[in-house]
Amino acid sequence: MPIKVFIQTYGCQMNEADSEEMFLHLSARGAMRTDKLEDADAVLINTCTVRDHAEHRAISFLGRLCKWKRQNPKRIIIFAGCAAERLGNQLKKRYPYLNIVSGAKEIENFPLTLDKSGLFGPVGKAATAKPGLFAYATIMRGCNFNCTYCIVPSVRGPIKCLPAADILADVQRKAQAGAKEIMLLGQTVNAYQDGNVSFADLLNRVSEVPGVERVRFTSPHPIYFTPQFLAAVKDNPKIARHVHLPVQSGSSKVLGEMKRGYTREIFLEKVHALQANGFEISTDIIVGFPTETEPDFEQTLSLVDQARFMAAYCFKYSPRQGTVAAQMQLHSEETLEKRLDILLNKVKGLAEAAYARQVGTVQQVLMEEPHKGKTSTNFWVQTGLAFSPGSVVSCKIERAEGTLLFARIEHD
Ligand code: SAH
Ligand code: SF4
Ligand code: F3S
Repeated sequence: MPIKVFIQTYGCQMNEADSEEMFLHLSARGAMRTDKLEDADAVLINTCTVRDHAEHRAISFLGRLCKWKRQNPKRIIIFAGCAAERLGNQLKKRYPYLNIVSGAKEIENFPLTLDKSGLFGPVGKAATAKPGLFAYATIMRGCNFNCTYCIVPSVRGPIKCLPAADILADVQRKAQAGAKEIMLLGQTVNAYQDGNVSFADLLNRVSEVPGVERVRFTSPHPIYFTPQFLAAVKDNPKIARHVHLPVQSGSSKVLGEMKRGYTREIFLEKVHALQANGFEISTDIIVGFPTETEPDFEQTLSLVDQARFMAAYCFKYSPRQGTVAAQMQLHSEETLEKRLDILLNKVKGLAEAAYARQVGTVQQVLMEEPHKGKTSTNFWVQTGLAFSPGSVVSCKIERAEGTLLFARIEHD
């Protein structure tokens, strides 16, 4: 009987991709996947620790598994990922029913960890991944920055770029299995370099893999968006015209204290250059960084006005143990709440305004359902006629309703 494994993933897309990878190692040892916790023989929790709240969710899920394990003590619990890296083996003391702790830096040793545990069968053939229309491809691990608020470098380690040949082989496999859209992943994904293969080269090569219709990537860092990058990708329509580009703050003073490596002006310059080449931009913003004053916060609000983002994800600053900013004096919860509230109010109309801007344009829509698909700029489009999922349809956008576009099909 195969071991049935239930997978719970928290955190970013890199964690989603890591969960898929860990599942392949489990499947090579006789496991199959289940969506029902009550049917499972094993649980894999892949965790995030970027903010306190994220870590809490993972640990409270682990706490709830106590009862599940008591129902059958042979059940297996694996706690993996970024929170596992931070908390390490102290978790095993607190939760003695935990079988395996495998931190984010240990992902390459995950197969060995499974084998050493003696809980799984011998190595055989891994399940064939069926990616559907989308597939992730991890191109680098870790981060070489040291943003003063961020725990990622300490739990993921320094940058390691995967060889371009391995990435292309991975993409080929996924495209052959039916993937049309590939998302390249890394914490500073556009810092990728393998010998003389730059990030732009890699994007172009991935887009040439037979079957690939669209290539996305996340998360880039602003400093690597150079005129050379834009020149190298601008004539390639398969490279998606959407970039998630976290700004974090609109105040150059706070950006300096965060050690982001750019000023407000440089960020806006990069955004406007991308927009001039047809890219839509979404972002992340942190409110209440310890040194953020009211005028700094107002700078963030005015940056939102100037940047014409299509979306902004806003977070309250959360101190992370061991980071530089964790030593600084915190704002009160009341200040954090107040600033978050004001910012959320400011950003709530961004998506609708961005959808409205598309009216009158012609877009290539990658169909996800018979009547619905996404533009290269990442907007949802409803087509009157039905098309098979995975096909790319040229559409004239006639109107926008909230966050949905309605299109007329353009015939050649
Ligand atoms: N590598 C990406 C960000 C990864 S973390 C980059 O550099 O842009 C994802 C997001 O979490 C960040 O963009 C930031 O907005 C948020 N974040 C990271 N650390 C945080 C903290 N200590 N408190 C609040 N938000 C944080
Ligand atoms: Fe964290 Fe900064 Fe690295 Fe992004 S670039 S993962 S925010 S340290
Ligand atoms: Fe979280 Fe780790 Fe991603 S801390 S955001 S899962 S890199």
